[in-house]
Amino acid sequence: MTSDTPTGSAATTGAPAPGAPGAPGSAAAVVGLQWGDEGKGKLIDVMASGFDAVVRFNGGANAGHSVVIGGRRFALHLIPSGILHEGVLSVIGNGVVVDPIALVEEIDGIEQRGVDTSNLVLSERAHLVLPYHIREDEQRERALAGAGGRDRSIGTTKRGIGPAYADKALRSTAVRAGDLRDPDALVARLRAIAPAKNALLGAFGAPPLEPEALAAELEPVAERLRPRLRDTTYLLHGLLAGGRSILFEGANATLLDVDHGTYPFVTSSGTTALGISSGSGVPAQRVGSIVGVMKAYTTRVGAGPMPTELHDADGDRIRERGNEFGTTTGRPRRCGWLDLVAARYAVMVNGATEVALTLLDVLSGFEELRVCTAYRLADGTTTDRFLPDARSLESIEPVYETLPGFAEDVTGVTTRAGLPDNARRYIDFVESFVGVRISTVGVGPDRAQTITG
Ligand code: GDP
Ligand code: IMO
Ligand code: MG
Repeated sequence: MTSDTPTGSAATTGAPAPGAPGAPGSAAAVVGLQWGDEGKGKLIDVMASGFDAVVRFNGGANAGHSVVIGGRRFALHLIPSGILHEGVLSVIGNGVVVDPIALVEEIDGIEQRGVDTSNLVLSERAHLVLPYHIREDEQRERALAGAGGRDRSIGTTKRGIGPAYADKALRSTAVRAGDLRDPDALVARLRAIAPAKNALLGAFGAPPLEPEALAAELEPVAERLRPRLRDTTYLLHGLLAGGRSILFEGANATLLDVDHGTYPFVTSSGTTALGISSGSGVPAQRVGSIVGVMKAYTTRVGAGPMPTELHDADGDRIRERGNEFGTTTGRPRRCGWLDLVAARYAVMVNGATEVALTLLDVLSGFEELRVCTAYRLADGTTTDRFLPDARSLESIEPVYETLPGFAEDVTGVTTRAGLPDNARRYIDFVESFVGVRISTVGVGPDRAQTITG
């Protein structure tokens, strides 16, 4: 690590880290329990020094994971959030869709800030997001926005994620990171893909894929990435067999999961702990500790149902205090009260063994805090089950319980016992509702503003 790389995480300053870090041959995971931006990047950074490798297994540059150390903010999109720790291997697994141009830019960006990236490796089986995927993403969103007189767009990050995963499933039009090894084979691959892609891009009125021009644009990027290509499945199994420990970094979040989220307003990958195996080659039984991260309230970016969304001064207050603007797109996030029905569902689907409750500090100053504990259906009955289907979820009304708020500033609090009584009551309520231990509480964006134990 270079001299100005920040140090001093909660994990290295003596506080017990969440999860079961460092156990020889073990793996742990951090996954989002809501609609993203729960503070996964910060938690990964806090935990990373207890592990030998941090591994991304899903998503792509749609993720924006922030790490703040001593006032310096890093926004990571494709690079695992453990990169700021010397000696920790950073692995981009096979389940990630990688925009090679964006990855090289990200590497250059953080290297310019003094971070050593020599420990970053990339699966040769990761699929590539290429410029035409981004054009396709944009055009599909535009078409949906105008469809049938009603805006049906998903509100994607326009990072080409859906089209790249679609090509992975189609096979005939896919390009993988390993294809960057041989320039002749790459141009041949792009030539084979061009007819199908260009029929589609042409129908959208978008510029075509030109194989030779794209191959030429990719060559300098390929040259940079070639030395980082690995069979990451064998690499990770080798680490585990050698008694090393691995931390999986979920991107996006449970309610955006392509199978278990609010379909069709979701992303295109397996975003839960269930996605770890397919996205990394490491079987689920190796992952002993699964930390689900949730905000003390709810946010969402993009379209789709969000039962507890607030369109009033309380929502604005959360947005301002929480600085709720997207890390990747800068879009204002939709804000609302904590949806415990959704959170308990997410804990169940992930098999979360513990929860990190983040951004608690944002709630200070509210006289009362509301939490959603059930949904009222259109027929007047109530349910405590989440409805992972956009149309069903759109038609419910949240049922709230009201808890007393806390006025004190908690950003300097370092122990759970040191929190105001009503803040502790809020945490206890959440803990008993979701049914697993809250092992970590976030009281500010900085690495040091983390209460553990
Ligand atoms: P991720 O996508 O899950 O990694 O989360 P993001 O980084 O996109 O968004 C979380 C935002 O909240 C970032 O700006 C973090 O710096 C910030 N953050 C994380 N934890 C806390 C916390 O406990 N309190 C406050 N105030 N901010 C936090
Ligand atoms: P992190 O890892 C918040 C949302 C988009 C959109 C939907 C589909 O930072 O928590 P996509 O570009 O993936 O096709 O968009 O998913 N989305 C996220 N929202 N945080 C993320 O990642 C997200 N990744 C995707 O806003 O609604
Ligand atoms: Mg984010």
